[in-house]
Amino acid sequence: MTLPPIVSGGYPVVGHIFEMLRDRAGLFKRGYAEHGDLFAIKLGPQYVLVVTGSEHNRLMYTQTDKTLNMQEGYTFLEEAVGKVLFTASKDDYYNQRPVLQEVFKRERMVGYIQAMNIEVQRWLDSLGESGEMDLSEEMLHLTQYVAGRALIGPNFREELGEGFWDLYTMISKSLDPVLPPTLPLPKFKRRDQAREKIHAVLRRLIDQRRDHPDQYDDLISTLLKTPLKDGTFMPDETIVAMFMGLIFAGHETTAGQAGWLIALLLQHPDYLDAVKAEIQAQVAYGHEIDASVLSQLKHIYWAIDETTRLHPSADTQIRTLEAPMTVGSYDVPAGWRMMVSGSTSHFLPDTFQQPERFDPYRFSPERGEGKDPFAIVGFGGGIHKCTGMNFAKNEMAIITSLLFQQFDVELLSEEVHTVTGNGANRPSAVRVRYQRKPLTALTDADTIREAADAGCPHIRQHLATHPE
Ligand code: HEM
Repeated sequence: MTLPPIVSGGYPVVGHIFEMLRDRAGLFKRGYAEHGDLFAIKLGPQYVLVVTGSEHNRLMYTQTDKTLNMQEGYTFLEEAVGKVLFTASKDDYYNQRPVLQEVFKRERMVGYIQAMNIEVQRWLDSLGESGEMDLSEEMLHLTQYVAGRALIGPNFREELGEGFWDLYTMISKSLDPVLPPTLPLPKFKRRDQAREKIHAVLRRLIDQRRDHPDQYDDLISTLLKTPLKDGTFMPDETIVAMFMGLIFAGHETTAGQAGWLIALLLQHPDYLDAVKAEIQAQVAYGHEIDASVLSQLKHIYWAIDETTRLHPSADTQIRTLEAPMTVGSYDVPAGWRMMVSGSTSHFLPDTFQQPERFDPYRFSPERGEGKDPFAIVGFGGGIHKCTGMNFAKNEMAIITSLLFQQFDVELLSEEVHTVTGNGANRPSAVRVRYQRKPLTALTDADTIREAADAGCPHIRQHLATHPE
């Protein structure tokens, strides 16, 4: 039996735990340099096979729910979210799947895109004429508002209540993939208190929707009326867990990637010029960016894919072997874990030309790099591939389009690097200086007059707050 080779630098007992938490990209890159596309690390007593490249990534994603168990890797989320999706048992997950598909079906994206437009514009309107801000922080708030409006509806601020996101942040900060989540630590006690309060809010929203089903068409009402695979309906506890699960899956991941996207565009002015030209040609000021406009914004979507490649919010995912497996020329015992690695897979020169370069054109149809569905792991793959991927990509495209349409933005941070935490990766501070463009630069005088006369609320508001 040939076991995979172990990467250098591990300590007795703890193995590579601390390096994993501090700099897993460095650890994985060293493992790849030492041993190639299959190597092992040790996290305390736990052995983990780290795999690189499409072929091995494919094996991990397609063996999930067969020889590979997904749920064990997410037990650290269970106390925070409840038992749902990736924390539920395999049988429960497949029972819940039709409901997940209902939430993300194509027709619902229209409403989600409207919610994104409204909240992004609201954020931009709040910025004043000029100033400085940290986009890394701003994105955390903006993506909360988008999620709130998309999932709960226009009254989400009142319905969720003022303290909701602070409670959510308290839970999110308690996440710890290393310590047992039931230890009597202050951060876990705060998590449990916050979770109780959030559950009380969500249970009230469930009751309201159950009592007045015709008044609501939002996530909770969808969860209430969509049958599970076995024909029964989700109990309230699972509805609460589903809501929390979607927020946990989608919030910090999208915020981190949106922050990186804007930072990368500002660091590459030539490409940003191409993005701005496309926005100018396709996005009419004061009009919603709908799905047909989004489909014209090719440069932004290529930049989004390049951001996912270079700085994935979710650079790794983990599984547990339920039976021994042969991977390449190695025998991997049951009980070992397996991880994909964006920091090595996304930089393979055979797959990506000059992989260290920011070069979104690599995703253009002429070049067609990264077409293999398992070359990039930032949204996962196979049956569990991110259900919210289009939601996240559209949100990032709308944020970028409206920001660069209405503001001149200059990057102040000299250096931006990835911060690896207990949850999703995010960029360090992305400090920018911004200046609002005059309305006359956004659209012509006749259109402004016509739109104001026709009652366009956006232009009316702009004229009221920024008379020129
Ligand atoms: C840039 C933003 C996002 C990134 C990088 C991301 C990343 C991922 C990844 C890597 C997975 C697979 C996990 C695994 O295989 O272990 C996943 C699954 C999932 N994501 Fe996302 N995600 C993002 C945004 C969202 C959003 C906005 C939502 C919901 C509104 C969402 C909902 C989900 C759900 C429900 C799953 C589980 C799918 C399943 O198990 O069938 N994600 N995401």
